[in-house]
Amino acid sequence: MERTFAIIKPDAVERNIVGKVLEKVEAAGFRIVGMKKIQLSKKEAEGFYYVHSERPFFGDLCSFMSRSPVVVLALERESAIAKWREVMGATNPANADAGTIRKEFGLSIEENTVHGSDSPESAAFEIPYFFSQLELL
Ligand code: CMP
Repeated sequence: MERTFAIIKPDAVERNIVGKVLEKVEAAGFRIVGMKKIQLSKKEAEGFYYVHSERPFFGDLCSFMSRSPVVVLALERESAIAKWREVMGATNPANADAGTIRKEFGLSIEENTVHGSDSPESAAFEIPYFFSQLELL
């Protein structure tokens, strides 16, 4: 069993489609081992996305991620990291395969509805960034 970290981003929470995203999570065989709705500060968003700090889109990304609440998730299944990336689809919704979350719900490369860890190292940083051991059930 492997764990990955996911975020349902502000664009999805604002449009009241959290349930539709969670349906896809469960349909893909993930167990939700942690889940909470939180409001990120700009600083917390910057800390989470520190690997992108030199990228031109970093400022806009952190403003977007802190503009309204998000739902953070720790998800478990076999090959969770790769499977969640498959279920999300390509970063840019325009390039995402049919049936993926980003193709169905994404608005733009920034407002792309969901985040997912891209490697075991990222998951090992991202899950404890938001969840304590006691919150993972
Ligand atoms: P995410 O998986 O959350 O990881 C970094 C995010 O940066 C990415 O999804 C996109 O929403 C956002 N982003 C904004 N602009 C770009 C870009 N030009 N290339 C890649 N990611 C971008």
